[in-house]
Amino acid sequence: MTSPEFANGETRGKIITCKAAVAYGPGEPFVIEQIHVHPPQNMEVRIKILYSSICHTDVSGWKGENEAQRAFPRIFGHEASGVVESVGKGVSEIKEGDIVVPIFNGECGECCYCKCEKSNMCERFGVNPMRKVMESDGRSRFSTIHGKPIFHFMNTSTFTEYTVVDSACVVNLHHVQTLNIKKLTLLSCGVPTGVGAAWNIANVHSGSSVAVFGLGAVGLAVAEGARASGASKIIGVDINPDKFIKAQALGVTDFINPREAEKPVYERIREMTNGGVDFSFECAGLSDVLRDAFLSTHEGWGLTVVLGIHTSPRLLPIHPMELFDGRRIVGSVFGGFKGRSQLPHFATKCGRGVVKLDDFITHELPFEEVNKAFDLLISGKSLRCLLHF
Ligand code: APR
Ligand code: ZN
Ligand code: ZN
Repeated sequence: MTSPEFANGETRGKIITCKAAVAYGPGEPFVIEQIHVHPPQNMEVRIKILYSSICHTDVSGWKGENEAQRAFPRIFGHEASGVVESVGKGVSEIKEGDIVVPIFNGECGECCYCKCEKSNMCERFGVNPMRKVMESDGRSRFSTIHGKPIFHFMNTSTFTEYTVVDSACVVNLHHVQTLNIKKLTLLSCGVPTGVGAAWNIANVHSGSSVAVFGLGAVGLAVAEGARASGASKIIGVDINPDKFIKAQALGVTDFINPREAEKPVYERIREMTNGGVDFSFECAGLSDVLRDAFLSTHEGWGLTVVLGIHTSPRLLPIHPMELFDGRRIVGSVFGGFKGRSQLPHFATKCGRGVVKLDDFITHELPFEEVNKAFDLLISGKSLRCLLHF
């Protein structure tokens, strides 16, 4: 892949003045304005964003659904691709001109989680929607042109022409010749989150039955991962019947609209699958949906994987005695992938066509139309709308 000619060294070490979409309050429309982006410090990377898409977690953060997350003004966005403009001291694995994707769930490589094969958490750079400044010095690298700090989001902040992230939260995909940059954008969050939940967390195997609750990009990535693993039945559940059309192309074999169902969804699924599915995935972030997902699996071995981001203070809608029926439940972040060390291999697999990426990008808009792109996701019209810069 040839790097676009963005990294010519001219801006290295300097403050960059560029456009960003700034959110000033929960649910308020984004304001496109000039901001200052400060140079990367030790172990940090400044990226020129080429594409950014919108994931439901951006919507939750922007709406301020979890009170503790509220921090404004803020630059949202965490699914993107870009080219490295400059690097701070100590960065050796990434250089100017490299094609990269930022990851909200970083990998420092040195903490007890990063060294443990069983986990993709990271003590310093794990997913943390509360964090609003850089980890290294507790400051922001963004400010208004009048010098007022603007907060970061999810270790990434990608609704801006330039961003600064820690090198632990950057994956170098420069070597992936078989995927264009638009498709690489999908690898920053939604697709590995869903496919990885099927592969790494559930271990969906050939012939198994699966139910996916919520057919946004995350849920459809689960379906695609399950299809690639040879699942024989993939039931999609969504209140928006339009989703089934896309879903069929991505492996979903049956569809249930809870609003049209005459009985609880889990009962319907148990009937369709001789007692319940082997695996269910909650990809809507709603506790009632989670309960249905949990009860839709087979007694004795069923496993429910939670991918949806749930608002506080709701607790798990399950009575402890229900766990005695042998159903299990587990959460999944970034599909269990360790970003820096495992995403490049996943990208290569996608490039070989193991996972089909074509159907996920449904819209494309100029970055300035970010508010319209949010409307498309919220109204259920888009899976991923790419903003181009
Ligand atoms: N039952 C089933 N599906 C529902 C329900 C419901 N009661 N309510 C909403 N949905 C569907 C929506 O119609 C939509 O198709 O859930 C889907 C959610 O998809 P998106 O909004 O496109 O979200 P996505 O980006 O896929 O993220 C899904 O994963 O990472 C998390 O924060 C993210 O919680 C979100 C989830
Ligand atoms: Zn996301
Ligand atoms: Zn770590």
